[in-house]
Amino acid sequence: MQVQAINTALTAYAADVLILLLTEGAPAPAEVANLVGPAIEADFKAGFGKTALVYANNAITARKLLLVGLGKAEKLNLRLLRKAAAIGARAARESGAASIAFVPPTLDGFDADLTAQSLTEGALHGLYRFRSFKSVAAKPQVESIAILGASAAAVARGEAFAAGVNKTRGLAWLPGNHLTATDLANEAAAVCGAHGIEIEIYDKKGCEELGLGLLLAVNQGSVEEPRFVVMRYKGNGGQGPWLGLVGKGVTFDTGGISIKPTEGMWDMKYDMAGAAAVVGAMETIGRLKPKADILAIIGCTDNMPDGGAYKPGDVIVGLSGKTVEIRSTDAEGRLVLGDALAYAVKQGAAKLITASTLTGAAQISLGPIRFGMVSNNETWQQEVYQAADSVGERGWPQPMDEEYDDLFDSPIADMANSGVARAAGMIVGGRFLLKHVSETPTVHLDIAITAWNHKGGAEEDLGATGTAVRTFVAAAERWAK
Ligand code: BES
Ligand code: MN
Ligand code: ZN
Repeated sequence: MQVQAINTALTAYAADVLILLLTEGAPAPAEVANLVGPAIEADFKAGFGKTALVYANNAITARKLLLVGLGKAEKLNLRLLRKAAAIGARAARESGAASIAFVPPTLDGFDADLTAQSLTEGALHGLYRFRSFKSVAAKPQVESIAILGASAAAVARGEAFAAGVNKTRGLAWLPGNHLTATDLANEAAAVCGAHGIEIEIYDKKGCEELGLGLLLAVNQGSVEEPRFVVMRYKGNGGQGPWLGLVGKGVTFDTGGISIKPTEGMWDMKYDMAGAAAVVGAMETIGRLKPKADILAIIGCTDNMPDGGAYKPGDVIVGLSGKTVEIRSTDAEGRLVLGDALAYAVKQGAAKLITASTLTGAAQISLGPIRFGMVSNNETWQQEVYQAADSVGERGWPQPMDEEYDDLFDSPIADMANSGVARAAGMIVGGRFLLKHVSETPTVHLDIAITAWNHKGGAEEDLGATGTAVRTFVAAAERWAK
């Protein structure tokens, strides 16, 4: 769906629903107050996310007005503005509107372009529905979105972000039987093809030649071949320095021989959300064209148990040359990523960010609000934190004490792929990854929980969220400066 920047007086624009965003405890701007009338304005308290649909009077062309509360102005930020736009767009759709138009609020301290961009992103995020396998078509559809008085460039920027995020969501939604490693690699190729981004895809034989022993071990129990995908976006002419973005692409995680319980195992179709975020970020980067060189890598396989599968106790070796004792075949993501990270370092990445649905422990420590961050470099971690914050994504750095490495010592190999107890599961998972990058500054984002909205809400359907795309893109744009 397209979003249009329209320069028409808000009284004159013909839309099914005109969306007005109001702050709590402040009078609406005169032009808006005139439309709404004092009675409604007084009644509608504009608490965050509250909505009211009212019929418009004859003075304006739109049929209905939807008031959306922004809450108190001093608490507002771009993330909440996006969320309010999503809530508004969804409420308008629920009311049967085919065309909607936003009147951007003028807010102290908010740049007009960033406001318009956020409304665009929020609307497209909120209206996104997974192209469902249901045989009955989805309910009402919004066909057009306008942002009144916005600049076309701001709207296009919003569209670029939304396209990447929604691309990621669509991939994460796909079940294991509809998105194999081969399919995921082909999806990456399609995105790269659309934007002239270089891509190399290694099949099983190619992975063997590269020496990706950890990735291949995970793939051993599968009838599906792995794929290792290397993308190069040369926004700085390919002269570097290279920012490496790396994603876990486990298209389905049964746990392997350390098999997971039945309950909830179906969710493990989104175990490729990190790789999907890399692909989505390339979609946005391909549109925004930052002057940065980006090396993007995804390791793709499913994790299956069969007679050929890798087993607890096995010792394997990957690209970094470090040996790994398998304690749990369910700690497979760090193996896939360990090789991908080592490869990125070999290819000359100066700094790295990875995103992966790595540990259930992320749920225990941080829940669905923030992703975990594990890093070997305080400065780089702060930069990535700031990049995430600038686009409304929230992470939380984990402690960096080296003693955490003792938790995954092995008596037989350089390291084990998990601890013996569940202590500090998220940190252990992250620090395993850091063992494969030598000194290269690396930040790992554990998006195991934030990548999937298990409840759904007023602003977003249940399902894939597209977490990490915005952080990747923000980091890429900063890399250009
Ligand atoms: N894919 C899972 C992590 C996960 C859990 C993602 C819940 C999304 C939701 C990962 O491969 C895994 O199984 N991790 C294990 C590691 C353990 C065996 C050390 C875990 O977290 O239990
Ligand atoms: Mn697992
Ligand atoms: Zn997994």
